[in-house]
Amino acid sequence: MAFNKRVKIKTILEQPPIGSEVTLMGWIRTKRGNKNVSFIALNDGSILTNYQVVADPSLISEEVLKKCSTGACIKASGIVTASQGSGQNSELIASTIEILGEADPEKYPLQPKKHSLEFLREIAHLRMRTNTFSAVFRVRHALAFAVNKYFNDKGFFYIHTPIITASDAEGAGETFKVTTLNLNNPPKTADGKIDYKQDFFERETNLTVSGQLEGELAAMALAEIYTFGPTFRAENSNTTRHLAEFWMIEPEMAFYDAEDNADLAEDFLKYVINYALENCKEDLQFLEGRLAEEESAKPADQRTELGLIDKLKFVSENDFIRITYTEAIDILRNSNPNKKKKFQYLIDAWGADLQSEHERFLVEKHFKKPVILTDYPKEIKSFYMRQNDDGKTVAAMDILFPGIGEIVGGSQREERLDVLTKRMEEMNIPQEEMWWYLDTRRFGATPHAGFGLGFERMVQFVTGMGNIRDVIAFPRTPGNAEF
Ligand code: 4AD
Ligand code: MG
Repeated sequence: MAFNKRVKIKTILEQPPIGSEVTLMGWIRTKRGNKNVSFIALNDGSILTNYQVVADPSLISEEVLKKCSTGACIKASGIVTASQGSGQNSELIASTIEILGEADPEKYPLQPKKHSLEFLREIAHLRMRTNTFSAVFRVRHALAFAVNKYFNDKGFFYIHTPIITASDAEGAGETFKVTTLNLNNPPKTADGKIDYKQDFFERETNLTVSGQLEGELAAMALAEIYTFGPTFRAENSNTTRHLAEFWMIEPEMAFYDAEDNADLAEDFLKYVINYALENCKEDLQFLEGRLAEEESAKPADQRTELGLIDKLKFVSENDFIRITYTEAIDILRNSNPNKKKKFQYLIDAWGADLQSEHERFLVEKHFKKPVILTDYPKEIKSFYMRQNDDGKTVAAMDILFPGIGEIVGGSQREERLDVLTKRMEEMNIPQEEMWWYLDTRRFGATPHAGFGLGFERMVQFVTGMGNIRDVIAFPRTPGNAEF
């Protein structure tokens, strides 16, 4: 007989097969009881809820029962029976229990009590065995599935763009180098520089910061595409919103202008949120309770007004605000925190880059709704964004979310070869190496647009987790690449 004839706890809870013999496998969360009977709370990851396994010492040996401690993995077979106890409709009366893996109670770090998120980050290899993290990762899965479903249903094609590249799409110089050269003794050129001609790719390469540029190439053939892959940024930002390795979703569409782009982004974000609302009810309710507890520890004026689920509904049911950068600057300049010098970075002149304190003021205090900010000064945006007729701004769009700040960045792209190359010159972007990118402007160019959604920021928003390190299984941040 195959080993895995298990039934998932989720399946049993949905439709208890009362009277049937089943086999469950999972990890013990707790065991309680007395010398006459033991109650084991079993979790197999399929669902938040534990399932009660009843172990009668006349059937299960003392030796086995002793090994049934928190964290141990067991295989339990028996009859599903209507439960007498409160808290569950059915339970498993075990006829056999097999210990698959013991967990020494003296050493197992996860005790059935509340652990801090900071502590759990140090044991990220075990933290998915907690209610909070198993809920977060089930929701993360559902969101990833919703992303693919949304684009698939709309006829977009999923393109896998390269992870190793020779370009820095955002031009911010925050790349991780990729090399097989001996770092202790790298080959040098005549003028003393590292000779990348002798490196694996015979050129300097790095991990990608964005799949956009290759995404644009695909959009010039398949018209509507998206990427969904890991991206890497060596920015030394130790914040609750930055990772060195994160996942980004980047749709890119031929025949879209800036407004089409914003329409798609808004519809997409709402769809993904709604998908979670419909498909992750139990986990979201649990995460809402967790967040409420966390919020209640804060001073009253810093608490958010809406519960997690109401917040998600609010965002999915209301139009996003759309304003230009110029309008936002006016609002910020005249805002109380600016006048009272409460912002760390005061806004005085047009052209200032917006910091997250400004973005959050607009979203959380001023509009109390997600905001799509458009038409930024060209000086603070990337070379590929389409220049507006005013000569000062570009057709950029950032989407700002409550509690998160920037969740999406995108733009209409500069499809005019002469305007693009002039801008690249001004910004010192090497054109020879980007010949393939420029070719799309030479052959069959068309207006096109796209955006990038930071997947972890989306997971943060939906789960209510305050720190981005808690929504990716094994976070990569400055000084941290454990696990
Ligand atoms: O605004 P960004 O830098 O835009 C791009 O990379 C464009 N190429 C996207 C496009 O138009 N196709 O990044 C997009 C999003 C941000 O809005 C943010 O949500 C997320 O990626 N992001 C990060 N998430 C976690 N950690 C980081 N260090 C991030 N940097 C950006
Ligand atoms: Mg951005």
